[in-house]
Amino acid sequence: MDYLEIEGGSPLCGEVCIQGSKNAALPILSAAVLNHGITVLKNCPKIIDVKNMLEILIGFGCKVNWEGDTLIIDATVMNSNQVAACYARQMRSSIMLLGSLLGRTGTATLPYPGGCVIGERPIDLHIEALRKMGAELEEKGEGLCACCKKPQSSRVCLPFPSVGATENVILLAVLAKGVTILNNAAREPEIEELCRFLSCMGAKIQGAGTSQITITGVETLHDVEFTIVSDRIVAGTYMLMTAAAGGRVILNNPPLQQLGAVYGALRCMGVHCKECGEHLLLWRTERMKGLKGIRTEPYPGFPTDLQSPLMAALALAEGESEIEETIFEARFKIVEELLRMGADICTEGQKAYIRGVRKLYGADLIAKELRGGAALVLAAAAAEGKSRILQYHYIERGYENIIRDLQSLGVMVKKNIG
Ligand code: EPZ
Repeated sequence: MDYLEIEGGSPLCGEVCIQGSKNAALPILSAAVLNHGITVLKNCPKIIDVKNMLEILIGFGCKVNWEGDTLIIDATVMNSNQVAACYARQMRSSIMLLGSLLGRTGTATLPYPGGCVIGERPIDLHIEALRKMGAELEEKGEGLCACCKKPQSSRVCLPFPSVGATENVILLAVLAKGVTILNNAAREPEIEELCRFLSCMGAKIQGAGTSQITITGVETLHDVEFTIVSDRIVAGTYMLMTAAAGGRVILNNPPLQQLGAVYGALRCMGVHCKECGEHLLLWRTERMKGLKGIRTEPYPGFPTDLQSPLMAALALAEGESEIEETIFEARFKIVEELLRMGADICTEGQKAYIRGVRKLYGADLIAKELRGGAALVLAAAAAEGKSRILQYHYIERGYENIIRDLQSLGVMVKKNIG
């Protein structure tokens, strides 16, 4: 069994360049299908989920090339709109192909999306919203058949500001006739990034980043060269790792405007954050303080994707802490792993109660999903002694090269092909 081996316990020291955003790149790759031409992407992260999405696009007949760190997608010709199940089932974001395939071809056949074990992750909001826009969707066995020859001008209101459902509405609306008004839209930065990308291709979108987004359909989109913003969750992971392990860390090119909730938590924990141009300097001079009243919320609230890394850091904070997870119903999977390291945590429903301990100890750990796996790496870097993290391929779904990043922060880490 392959595993990561981490010798923890020393304060971090060094700098890390923050990769392109996974959750911005994936809907942008789906949106590239809407342009019968060339899309050039810079700063697209080389992660497993991007690789899978590109395989799906190749299956449509798109040409895909990496030229160094630049990704070139030629979607001039598409001879299929069948989404390959072997790739789609590995990630949730394949569902975002629904809107772009309907927008480009008027039909789509795709398997139910895969993804992490953090919750049931239904797609009812996607289906309901696209039906309001004139799509006919039939749930068949393992997947969905959809048809929408003439998407209509519509007013859609999401019962919950779902990120993916917001993205699917936008993807279908950009080439639809007339105006689509989306209320209770997700406000995540990744929505703004998708709309910025689509606008660079000639789409007409107002209100990105707010709860009401208005899309005025256009005839066609055109070629684009676009640089993807850096990843706020990867940046937040290393910010919390600095909090947990101590030391002095510089993050290069983090998305500074998107980290408000993380800054707030770190300041309360006694971690210093200082912006220096495009860089962020972090250090801690005394023991972290515990945090109460933290609850995950849609943006701009504290991000659910950083809940596990925060929990791992708070395991070492002075006093008691409390976290409430309000977005996903099964996102406390790392508790049993942290207990094995000597943490003192208990959960009751969607709430976790953490009593800080002086030390965590290295242990054999099992990653079960992407952000929980990253949280275990964080705990291992802060723990005394050696940890082995099995199933770390989950982490490679979202972190381009966590070994490279850890080594640049002075952490002793190696990959073992077991
Ligand atoms: C996106 O997932 C992200 N993934 C997730 O990041 C992130 O945690 C999530 O948004 C929330 O910010 C990508 O962007 C690829 P939602 P998404 O639709 O779109 C429920 C990571 O680690 N819901 O906003 O799937 C759902 O079950 C991943 O990078 C329905 O009930 O999130 C969840 O409880 C994990 N019906 C809540 O809404 C639906 O039709 C939020 O889901 C859709 C969602």
